Amino acid sequence: MAKSKTQFTCTACGNVTTKWAGRCEACGEWNSIVEEAPLSSGPSAATLGTARGRRIELTDLRTEETPPPRTVSGVAELDRVLGGGLVPASAILVGGDPGIGKSTLLLQAAARFARMGLKTIYVSGEEASAQVRMRAQRLGLTQSPVQLAAETNLRDILTTLDEERPQLAIINSIQTMWSDSIGSAPGSVSQVRAAAHELTAFAKRKGMAVILVGHVTKEGQIAGPRVVEHMVDTVLYFEGERGHQFRVLRAVKNRFGPADEIGVFEMTGKGLAEVTNPSALFLSDRGQPTPGSVVFAGIEGTRPVLIELQALVAPSPHSQPRRTVVGWDGGRLAMILAVLEARCGIPFAGLDVYLNVAGGMKISEPAADLAVAAALLSAREDAALPADTVVFGEISLSGALRAVGQTENRLKEAQKLGFSSAIAPKGGKSLTVDGIKLNRITDLASFVGETFGAG
Ligand code: TYD
Ligand code: MG
Repeated sequence: MAKSKTQFTCTACGNVTTKWAGRCEACGEWNSIVEEAPLSSGPSAATLGTARGRRIELTDLRTEETPPPRTVSGVAELDRVLGGGLVPASAILVGGDPGIGKSTLLLQAAARFARMGLKTIYVSGEEASAQVRMRAQRLGLTQSPVQLAAETNLRDILTTLDEERPQLAIINSIQTMWSDSIGSAPGSVSQVRAAAHELTAFAKRKGMAVILVGHVTKEGQIAGPRVVEHMVDTVLYFEGERGHQFRVLRAVKNRFGPADEIGVFEMTGKGLAEVTNPSALFLSDRGQPTPGSVVFAGIEGTRPVLIELQALVAPSPHSQPRRTVVGWDGGRLAMILAVLEARCGIPFAGLDVYLNVAGGMKISEPAADLAVAAALLSAREDAALPADTVVFGEISLSGALRAVGQTENRLKEAQKLGFSSAIAPKGGKSLTVDGIKLNRITDLASFVGETFGAG
């Protein structure tokens, strides 16, 4: 039977299928599937044969290894997300939307690491060296001993790295790299995979740290960073809303530290500045208590962060009311609306619902449920919550409130920022934090009753 040579790959998630489809069945992206020449012709039909290999030496779990020596950049927000500094012989992927500030962040990081004594090479596949230099001038980094190259040919880059032996190489971006041994165009799934594979394997072999930049893409022409996530040790995403100055660097995978850790930056005229107290920034422009605005005491990674949630509920002119969410999960919003309707008898039919997380933050914690419900109710009833109150807790489908982790840290952060009361679920161990009046509630219906009168 003749085997077909072509395969179809999703440029968003890398899923491989034998048939083309309009929508990827793995990640649900539309229009992201492209035809690809296979990376290799696959294993040959023959078995391994009888030739024996070398015996592998086995160790056990007691074998002691000294922890890898880490280099800190001096930018605390970056070092924390990396798990405490840069580990040699590791591969890091930094993904993000075009224009979000990846090149800026990495040029600043390169300069910092170079000043800390790491031999650093910055390879730009997108911008000419002159452009990178211009950016460096704007950022005030021209004195940093970073070596620059503008190149996209993978073979030439590897040859140079092999001769120069840097301790850190930054590749901006992985989608522009191109290997001459592969037929398809730069940016295709097989090119991106091959380049990432070659570079990470080289880094491991030579003890070099490599940072790969990947653009998140919406159209199917260029493979997104997700197709290389499994090859690298650490995956960081740089996110934020274009119109806001806040940027969040988030670790989604880290073999050398905790995942879910975030670093917060602010885009200024002189590049990215670290934000060491994000709560103060996310709350900075709160004035009088407004209906629909609620402060959520959240946890991002290992750090408590206070974030303002804003809701707007208005009569809908449409037969199908709008549900618009920025910074939170739309499915989760539908769930909260359903619980409010079914368990508390508060309908949202015929009402448009808008929910926004202030400052361009994205929240994924279920602990935000109660804060979202509070914002929706406050907007619907046109009644503001007291301005000195923070809210957190998970809502279950039965309408009961579930306790969430790190209650104490959340309360302490609230206290630090001048809040004096908190609404949280009952359950978990009892605790008190000086200066915070804690109101513990068992279910959503009693929350509605206590806070907004009887529905
Ligand atoms: P950039 O790092 O080029 O984004 P990416 O590499 O992710 O595509 O940054 C893009 C934006 O950042 C650009 O629109 C201009 C803005 N910016 C500043 O606001 N201040 C600065 O100092 C720099 C260098 C860029
Ligand atoms: Mg860039």
